[in-house]
Amino acid sequence: MRKTKWFVSAIATLVVAVIIAGCGQPAKPAEPAKPAEPAKPAETGDIKIGLVVPMTGDVATFGTSMKQGADMAVKQVNDKGGVLGKKLVLRVEDDKNQPTETAAAVQKMISQDKVAVIIGSAASKCTLAGAPIANSNKIPMVTPTSTNEKVTQIGEYAFRVCFIDPFQGDVMAKFAVDNLKKKTAACLFDVSNDYTKGLAEAFKASFEKMGGKVVEYQTYNVGDQDFKPQLTKIKSKDPEVLFLPDYYNTVGLIAKQAREIGIKSVFLGGDGWDSAELTKIGDKAIEGGFFSNHYSPDAKNPESVAFREEYEKTYKGTPDSFAALAYDAIMITVDAIGRAGKTDGAAIKDALSQTKNFKAVSGNITIDPATRNPIKSAVVLKVMDGKFAFEALVNP
Ligand code: PHE
Repeated sequence: MRKTKWFVSAIATLVVAVIIAGCGQPAKPAEPAKPAEPAKPAETGDIKIGLVVPMTGDVATFGTSMKQGADMAVKQVNDKGGVLGKKLVLRVEDDKNQPTETAAAVQKMISQDKVAVIIGSAASKCTLAGAPIANSNKIPMVTPTSTNEKVTQIGEYAFRVCFIDPFQGDVMAKFAVDNLKKKTAACLFDVSNDYTKGLAEAFKASFEKMGGKVVEYQTYNVGDQDFKPQLTKIKSKDPEVLFLPDYYNTVGLIAKQAREIGIKSVFLGGDGWDSAELTKIGDKAIEGGFFSNHYSPDAKNPESVAFREEYEKTYKGTPDSFAALAYDAIMITVDAIGRAGKTDGAAIKDALSQTKNFKAVSGNITIDPATRNPIKSAVVLKVMDGKFAFEALVNP
């Protein structure tokens, strides 16, 4: 068994160890540039930032949180005089969590709105559809939350401020083995979604490497509502943990059906669980589950404390990681624009890739210039009394 790197603490002190990965994946060649559409006259003096997020559709709470986090960041920057003496203007597009919509929105924001940078999208499957267009147009795209490994491999204009799924899968496998002392697991995931599939693969590989056994590896497709056939097979193997790496809607549904047929396993998952809707849908069935996440509202780093205070004052609700990461994505971009001294895509891209030890809400961020990924810590949260309680901090 590997040496444990857990730092379990009753108080959520998020001291983030940032380690820069040694070498990265080579970038894929960029797609041929799309023919430019006729430019609209540029508005004077503003720096336009595009935000493409799911404001409606199956993960609407993600987009709503992200917009709130981004709005707050933009307001704070503008209140302090903007960047390079210019105000920021946010252009928001709803992609409904549908890849074709993301692609269309990215194209529009570049050719019509003339944005300098794009922040988005939420889901990896959407960012994977939008980022090639941004990349071929030399417009940096920074995703707050898309964790699939392939996202930043799209090219040198594709960045993120979140950790990646291989790490997230590893975190939950370690947590199951080291903290929960479990040895058998089953996985149930959406085979049509890059995010859930990548996460299941990473969890399985790590769990088995640590000596655990994956006794069932079951799949479904997007939109499925009845999981009893797969759950029945899982029940017959009686795994100690059941890994459910999908988002809150589906996970809530699966948890209920699993308990209905008598599955006793501890439920585990990833950052797709992070919505107040999870406990509304999953109710008692999801209690006692654990998931890896980017941020805990209980974090005590000064940036996080200030962020939570302001967020609660503004929106009368507790921030989740989608809000925190969208805020961080804007702030890291503004920092890069400031260092670049200009707003052309290539200059911002170079400055972004040189980001070092930036004090973000979700922990310190250093971008690895080879992969355009930050290496940062994760938290494990426990579903308890309808809320998410801090359980552990995990460093890479
Ligand atoms: N990290 C997830 C992803 O990359 C976030 C997410 C999950 C967003 C599910 C939407 C739906 O896709």
